[in-house]
Amino acid sequence: MKTRVAIIGAGPAGLLLSHLLEREGIESIIVEAQSSDFVLGRFRAGLLEAASVDVLDEAGLSERLHRDGLEHRGVYVQWPGTKRSVDFVERGGRPVWVYGQSELTRDLSDARFAAGQQMYYNVSDVALHDVDSSAPFLTGVDATGRSIRIDADVIVGCDGFAGVSRDSLPQSLRAVYERRYPHSWLGFFADVPPSSDQIIFAWHPEGFAMHTMRSASISRFHLQVDPHDHISAWSDDRIWETTARRLGSGDNDWTLHAGPITEKSILPLRCRITTPMRHARLFLAGDAAHVVPPTGAKGLNLAIADVTLLARALGAWKRGDESLANAYSDSALRRVWRAAEFSWSWSSALHTTGDPFDDQLQLAQLDWLTSSPTGGAGLAEKFSGVPIAFG
Ligand code: APR
Repeated sequence: MKTRVAIIGAGPAGLLLSHLLEREGIESIIVEAQSSDFVLGRFRAGLLEAASVDVLDEAGLSERLHRDGLEHRGVYVQWPGTKRSVDFVERGGRPVWVYGQSELTRDLSDARFAAGQQMYYNVSDVALHDVDSSAPFLTGVDATGRSIRIDADVIVGCDGFAGVSRDSLPQSLRAVYERRYPHSWLGFFADVPPSSDQIIFAWHPEGFAMHTMRSASISRFHLQVDPHDHISAWSDDRIWETTARRLGSGDNDWTLHAGPITEKSILPLRCRITTPMRHARLFLAGDAAHVVPPTGAKGLNLAIADVTLLARALGAWKRGDESLANAYSDSALRRVWRAAEFSWSWSSALHTTGDPFDDQLQLAQLDWLTSSPTGGAGLAEKFSGVPIAFG
């Protein structure tokens, strides 16, 4: 097979990239290791920055998002005895949208099927070849066990954290930056309407807790836990008791509504960034190049920003101008590092360390972010995001 752009991975990055490329008049083929059902069934991030929504609006992909998604102007930040609302719009930012990643993936996938996108699911043993030549190609084994080869002008690795494409960056050029955080998140979904009209970020001496939502009937929660904790030690009763305590259920007439827990897991918090995001005819986008802790909800937004820049760059290159393609890695990484900084500083303000001195510093930081116009404006900008642009 032959195409202009061979895309590895049919997550949000790969699917959106193929859509945006089509709008640039560029054909692509996607290969995906998993089945379509598996990809669509994955529950993950669910907060979209305004700039991400702009991209989906312009691409004609946001009808269901505007119908079923929840627009939020801000968040609550609280600690025992205090609850403050940070209104992003009042502080110079823009609203964010709560919309499950699985819903977005379904919208993207439906749009690609409707457009007749060439997509191959259940492809194993994907390997990249000759990425530093002008004739790179992919090989793999399709769902029927047949060997396939895809020749392309460029290959884009959208294959996520566990993908293979970043291994094709030459060792001599590759730099990997990694931070493992000293705590993990216990995340769970519950079939219960949200107990709050906005997302709650709660500092508590026992550890961080977060209440967010997927829809009017599904709530999502996160609890700071020890990295050595095992999910089997967390019964549903223990989870609800801990969540109610940390979120201050019963204080100021606010009550947490419990319900059936439908999914629970423990996730280590980590940041890993691989640079550069381009080498010769290989480009990386999304989790394939970077993962950031979920505290700032930036992972999905970074994937959208990467492929937005990349589609523009490949469009310009097709018209004979390679300058944006040359600028892609630096421009994407600028945004990635800003998100890494936000995820780090926001996580650091909220996750307790067990040291009373740290507790007081964190409370001072949260007080400043939620009461000072300067602190609030910074938090609003970091949360709601900045326009997606080269430079
Ligand atoms: N060959 C083909 N496909 C692969 C391979 C491989 N060797 N390895 C991984 N994949 C596929 C995965 O099965 C997955 O469907 O690549 C896809 C990568 O998708 P995601 O992991 O969702 O990553 P991405 O598209 O970059 O989405 C951005 O940021 O923070 C997160 O939750 C957010 O998942 C979202 C992500």
